[in-house]
Amino acid sequence: MMPEPVILDVDPGYDDAIAMMLACSAPELDVRAVTTVAGNVALEKTTRNALKILSFTKRAKIPVGAGAASPLVRTLRTSEHIHGESGLDGADFPEPAFGPDGRDAVRLMADVVREASEPVTIIPLGPLTNVATFLEEHPCLTQNIRRIVLMGGSVGAGNVTPAAEFNVYVDPEAARIVLESGLPLTMLGLDVTREATVGPEEVERLRSVGRAGEAVAGLATYHYAGAYRRTYGLAAPPIHDPVAVAAVVEPAILETRSLRVDVECEGELTRGETVCDLYGVTGRPPNAEVGMGLDRSAFFEILIRSLEGLGI
Ligand code: BDR
Ligand code: CA
Repeated sequence: MMPEPVILDVDPGYDDAIAMMLACSAPELDVRAVTTVAGNVALEKTTRNALKILSFTKRAKIPVGAGAASPLVRTLRTSEHIHGESGLDGADFPEPAFGPDGRDAVRLMADVVREASEPVTIIPLGPLTNVATFLEEHPCLTQNIRRIVLMGGSVGAGNVTPAAEFNVYVDPEAARIVLESGLPLTMLGLDVTREATVGPEEVERLRSVGRAGEAVAGLATYHYAGAYRRTYGLAAPPIHDPVAVAAVVEPAILETRSLRVDVECEGELTRGETVCDLYGVTGRPPNAEVGMGLDRSAFFEILIRSLEGLGI
């Protein structure tokens, strides 16, 4: 089968970096572009980090489009307490071997989707600013989008506030646009991604997978593991973003439910909450396949197997 064409929209960030390495190494995927957004750290840093990861994985041919430096209407909130000042503190990637594309994120997305001979899947792993802008500016191109598989939101508790997950909290207006786009959409929130914890056993397995595995093990341990221990009391940190990539490679790793999901944009305590209608009480039709469960060992098999094939 031909690999599925995908665009990754990222804010690296440790788990974005791992997701990028997974996407670049999975033979089932063809990464046509990487677009960057401000989120975990400022745009300048997320773009530089994306270029570093692609240089390290020897994927300099993948164009990188820098996108939004701030959310649609709000002030940017970043996450240095989890990802460090640089977004990848402690990681030892060489300097980028190439620069960003001349096109910005939205133009690059538009060109890739327009020129693709088959529908493209978009995998957003940060705040949804770029994706929302693209959908609003290029409504005619949505027919060539196969689906959107995003990491964000939560059926249950949040992580940045009691109600909200970081990516949706940072730009709730953008998340609302994406969720109301009418496109086939899978929302992988904290309910599933928090299952993807990297403990000592996974670190050991990753370390046996050459340079790429060592790099991923490092990303999941350095500052990130300590930050999760301090902030959430977790012994092993969850790597959220690679779950969305793995779910495109193999949707069967997920248990999902079709649900109506609405984004709270106004609430004083609930800004960025993804309100999931579990009992159909709104009477509104579902707009998302929502991740409810993850086959954790299948997820790690995909990660390890893909990294083994990276050949760097
Ligand atoms: C999400 O927020 C970011 O910090 C991570 O990269 C992930 O995309 C988890 O809430
Ligand atoms: Ca992210």
